[in-house]
Amino acid sequence: MAFHLPNSPSSLAPHPPLRDYYQTEEQRRKLLDAQFDQVAPDYNWITQASSFGSGKRYRREALKRSGLKQGDTILDVACGPGTVSVCAQLIVGEAGRVVGLDPSLGMVTEAQKQGVSTVLQGKAEHLPFPDEIFDFISMGYALRHVTDLALTFKEYLRVLKPGGQILLLEISRPDSFLPYHVSRFFLKQVVPWVAYLGTKNPHAHKLMKYYWDTIESCVPPETILQALEESGFVHSQQYTLFGGLLRDYSGCKP
Ligand SMILES: C[S@@+](CC[C@H](N)C(=O)[O-])C[C@H]1O[C@@H](n2cnc3c(N)ncnc32)[C@H](O)[C@@H]1O
Repeated sequence: MAFHLPNSPSSLAPHPPLRDYYQTEEQRRKLLDAQFDQVAPDYNWITQASSFGSGKRYRREALKRSGLKQGDTILDVACGPGTVSVCAQLIVGEAGRVVGLDPSLGMVTEAQKQGVSTVLQGKAEHLPFPDEIFDFISMGYALRHVTDLALTFKEYLRVLKPGGQILLLEISRPDSFLPYHVSRFFLKQVVPWVAYLGTKNPHAHKLMKYYWDTIESCVPPETILQALEESGFVHSQQYTLFGGLLRDYSGCKP
């Protein structure tokens, strides 16, 4: 199922509007920026706690599996507090370069504190970079937050060098009954409370509830892969774990 935005036949929203949270696109953007600003200092703790301590290792392994190597120049879109960027810096080493990008000022500030050397404020849909300058683009757990998947993927294609790779880390609805219901209970009921009790940040509960609601209503993986191919990527594929709860999408610029 795809959700096309009005007045723009080629655009593709990652999920339909979530009316319990916002009414307009402008309100959605404000809500996201406010939520991520408020939770930025606690985000890494929540990520590690909700992944039982495996979040950073998982990101590092996914980057390596997708071909990131020493000396590469990588753009980490939606860098948050630098969760993926810091792992990427260890892989590319001194000969390479990592650029973090995120619309939330709170997250950008936190990424700098975590040691990400180059961080900019900006959005996936309008990348503030010239054509063909990156070897690799990563985006960790943020595909559900862009306005338009097609526009975003075209931007990724534009700034990648020929032969460049993308890696989109995502959480998605598991396909079968048991993994779906276990994930739903864990992410919708348990994680918001763990996030709140562990950080004492009242905004953490709301963010993690919203997080599950976007996962639940997101377009299916086949639509994401199709959008990648239609945008011009080749060899698009997905890597899944835990019945599809963790789903990494990758592709290559021809
Ligand atoms: C769940 S955090 C992910 C942080 C990190 N990448 C990770 O692996 O955990 C989602 C991030 O997406 C960012 N974001 C939201 N809308 C975005 C957009 N349109 N373009 C780029 N980043 C966006 C938020 O500000 C937030 O920092």
